[in-house]
Amino acid sequence: MDVLMLKGGNTLKGEVKISGSKNSSLPILAATLLTDDPIIIKRVPNLRDTRTMIRLLQSLGKEVDFTNGTLSVKAGKKASYIADYELVSTMRGSFCVLGPLLGKLKKAKVSLPGGCVIGIRPVDLHIKGVEALGAKIEVDGGYVIATAKKLVGNNIFLGGVFGSSVLATANVMMAAVLAEGVTTVEFAACEPEIEDLTNFLIAMGAKIEGKGSPCLRITGVKKLKGVTYEIIPDRIEAGTYILLAAATRSDLTIKNTDIKHLSSLVDRLAQAGVRVYDEKGDIKIEHNGKYKPVSVTTYPYPGFPTDLQAQFMAFMATIEGVSIISDKVYPDRFIHIAELNRMGADIRREGTAAIVQGVKCLHGAPIMASDLRASAALLIAGLMAKGTTEIHRIYHLERGYEDLDEKLIKVGAKIWREKEK
Ligand code: EPU
Repeated sequence: MDVLMLKGGNTLKGEVKISGSKNSSLPILAATLLTDDPIIIKRVPNLRDTRTMIRLLQSLGKEVDFTNGTLSVKAGKKASYIADYELVSTMRGSFCVLGPLLGKLKKAKVSLPGGCVIGIRPVDLHIKGVEALGAKIEVDGGYVIATAKKLVGNNIFLGGVFGSSVLATANVMMAAVLAEGVTTVEFAACEPEIEDLTNFLIAMGAKIEGKGSPCLRITGVKKLKGVTYEIIPDRIEAGTYILLAAATRSDLTIKNTDIKHLSSLVDRLAQAGVRVYDEKGDIKIEHNGKYKPVSVTTYPYPGFPTDLQAQFMAFMATIEGVSIISDKVYPDRFIHIAELNRMGADIRREGTAAIVQGVKCLHGAPIMASDLRASAALLIAGLMAKGTTEIHRIYHLERGYEDLDEKLIKVGAKIWREKEK
C-alpha cells in the first residue's frame, strides 16, 4: 500500500477542475436497476466507491462499460436480487440498491451495511419507508430480505432522530416510482444529490413533484425507460479544495462547479475573513488579511455539510482564538481530532462538540487516515504544516477524490507517494 507524502508550508496557485459527484453517482447508478433499457451516464468519477458500485451492478446482472467517465449500463442475461455482504460491507452507499431492486423485481436481499468510524449508521428509516409501500421485511443472517406482491403508494414521514436521511430518501423514491398510486414523502432529504437523482428518475419517465424540497409527491408509473444523463459536480470535492485554498492562503480557481450548492460554506468562510465568489461560473477565493475563528454546526442541506466538518476543523486549527465545531448529523464524527493533535493542533472534544484553540502552526508527522473526509482534513493539515507529513491508509482518500495527486501537483503541491515499509 502507498503512503502519501506531503511537504507543507507553501502556497498553491492555479486551477482545479471538479469531478462529477460521488454521492450523486452512487444512487443514480443504483437507479439503472429500475429499467432493462440501456442507460448512459456521463461525468461519473473514477473512484474506489463508484468502481464498487459498478461491481455490485454487475453482480446484479447488469453489463457495464466505464470509459473516460462515461458509464454505459444495459441488462445482462439474468438479473439477480442479492447484494452480497462483500460489496455492501466495503461501502455503505451500496445499500441504496434496496429500493430499485424492490421496485423492479419486487424482491431484494441486501446485506446490512454495519457501522463505520463516523458512527453507528442505522437503516431504520430505509426499512420504515419501504415497509410503508407494502414490502415485507425480514432480517436474517445479516441481510435485509424485502419482498412484496406489489408496492402501493402511501404517505411516509421520513424524519429520524438526526433529521432527514439522504440514502433513505433515495431508496424510498426509487421504490415508489414503480409503485401503484401516489406516494408522498415528508421530511425528505433536500441535498443536491437527491435533486440530481430526482432529475435522473424524471428523465427516465418517473412522475415526481417537489424536487429539491422536503415534501415529494411521486405518482407511480408502469415502466421506466433508458436515458443519457450527466451527473452534477461534486460539491464536497469543491468545498474541500476551497478550504484547502483558504487554509494555505492559496490562489486557486475552482472550475466545473456550482457555488449555489455551497452557500453555507461561503457564509462561514466570509465570517472567517475569506471571500469566496463566483466569477463567470468559476469559484474564486480571496484572502482578506487576518482570519478570525468561526464556529460551525453541521445540519442536513442547506445547512453546513457534515462531509466538510473535518476539513473546516483543519482550517480552524491555526486561526488564533477559539472555534466550536459541532456535528448534528454524525455526532461522533471526530476521529480526526487525535491525528490533528499529533500534528500540534489543540482540539478537545466535549460531548458532541470539538473546541478548537488555534495554534501558531502545525508540524508534519506520520498520521493515519481513518475515513474519507477525515483523510481530506489531514491532507489540508499536511499542506499547511511545517515539514513533512506521511499519510497512511490513503485508500480512504481514493474512495472520494478523483485524480487527487495530479490535481494537487498541477497547482504546485509538493506531494508524492512511497511504498509502505
Ligand atoms: N440515520 C438514521 N436512520 C436511518 C438512516 C440514517 O438514524 O435509517 C441517521 C444517520 O445515522 C445520521 C443521519 O441519519 O445520523 C443522516 O444520515 P444519512 O442517512 O443522511 O446518511 P447516508 O445517506 O447514509 C449520505 C452520504 C454521506 C453523508 C451523509 C450525510 C452517500 C453515499 N453518503 O450518507 O457521505 O455524510 O449522507 O450528508 O451519499 C461521504 O461522502 O464521506 C459520506 C459519508
